Amino acid sequence: MFDEYHLFDGVKIITKNIPGKKSKELLSAQDKLESRNRSYPRGIPIAYESAKGAIIKDVDGNFFVDFFSGCGVLNFGYNNQDILKEISESTNFIMHALDFPTKIKIDFMRGLIESMPENLRGKYKISFGGPTGSDAVEAAIKLARINTGRHTIISFQGSYHGMTMGAMSVTSKLSHREKVNPLIPGVHFMPYSSCYRCAMSRNPKSCNFECVSYLKNALENPHSGIDKPAAIIIEPIQGEGGTYIPKKGWLEKVVEIARANGIIVIFDEVQAGFYRTGKLFSFEHTKAIPDIITMSKGVGGIGTPLSLILLRKELDKWEPGTHIGTFRGNQLGMAAGLSALKFIKKMKIEAYVSKMEKLFLNKLRAIQKSSKFIGEVRGRGMMFGVEYVKNATTKEPFPEMAKKIRKLCYENGLLVEIGGYYNNVVRFLPPLIISEKIALNGLGIFKTVNDLAGNRKH
Ligand SMILES: Cc1ncc(COP(=O)(O)O)c(C=O)c1O
Repeated sequence: MFDEYHLFDGVKIITKNIPGKKSKELLSAQDKLESRNRSYPRGIPIAYESAKGAIIKDVDGNFFVDFFSGCGVLNFGYNNQDILKEISESTNFIMHALDFPTKIKIDFMRGLIESMPENLRGKYKISFGGPTGSDAVEAAIKLARINTGRHTIISFQGSYHGMTMGAMSVTSKLSHREKVNPLIPGVHFMPYSSCYRCAMSRNPKSCNFECVSYLKNALENPHSGIDKPAAIIIEPIQGEGGTYIPKKGWLEKVVEIARANGIIVIFDEVQAGFYRTGKLFSFEHTKAIPDIITMSKGVGGIGTPLSLILLRKELDKWEPGTHIGTFRGNQLGMAAGLSALKFIKKMKIEAYVSKMEKLFLNKLRAIQKSSKFIGEVRGRGMMFGVEYVKNATTKEPFPEMAKKIRKLCYENGLLVEIGGYYNNVVRFLPPLIISEKIALNGLGIFKTVNDLAGNRKH
């Protein structure tokens, strides 16, 4: 399936080195013009020329399989022709409409609400803000504070919620935070259900959710030192933290404790949402239900910047204009998001993602079996993490190996990224429409690269 959605049906590397000559020229021009702040081309030094589906062509004529999809934005591939065609035929929309109602906007909102699980439909409203995931997180924090009159927020170790000051305040990575502190006060980080690296030193098979007991104590012990929180913000699957999928039952238990303490529950679905795991929301794989949901990345259909929050109707108590932004009316994003919703149904994306999840996990686990340094393979839907460790028993992180793998991958035509608590997890977020042939091609390169990196047992 989806064979015709791609620029090319695999990898072609024609230059002796990556980056090739033309990529080098553009990278050097970029260096002169753009701030040191840029990051991705440092890890993957190529300049893009064109892209379609899961394939990127660089300016030197090399074709790469992209297992990263613009950091989980391009769920339906680059330049998805079905979505683009539908938008271009609809000449009847205005690019920018602030927050005035338009037909596209109403249709998009209806489409999104109708795509929600049946038991949640009709219970939420939508609020738009600036076009990034971070902005949705800002909106969610404000709304929770306004509704509760409290300010403290509970977040989790290993979390990533964005780079604006509020969003970064609930993001745990110290290297992001330490040079710009102080951030917003009153944020406390609790252990996530990242069982491979359990903060409570327990074994997930026999543990008794000690991390949840710790959270409960922090919220209920009169001597915890933590003011009663406004909200608890959770990634139902941690993305940047290294693709951590909580132990079954964890999310439900956390929500139960939050509810018992009158704390608003925010699920950050910016990365794991919009069908990345096969369902509209990644929390649909559990029984947990949030009060506020943040969305961005894939929701803009073709990579159009769009973000929003879904809020329970009873929380809609903020004054008009409490969270505004000039670009909150991105009509192109809404048109693309609406068209993507139709594409998802027509193409039965949920079933396809579930099939591809098995294919990826089977192959990755086979690679792990013959590997010296892969400690764990994790994945749900089309989100995967391969964690590199120096020693399977001590689990000492091996970030150098993850970096080496990323380099060997792009040199051999596969684009992957690195994340994880210790930058030791190679992460895949392939487009949901990657064809089986291209997926197998990419996974084959990943296997070869692991061998080349000296990661084979025998
Ligand atoms: C879970 C999550 N929340 C929020 C964000 C921030 O989104 P943005 O980079 O669009 O501000 C990200 C980005 O990776 C994310 O993964």
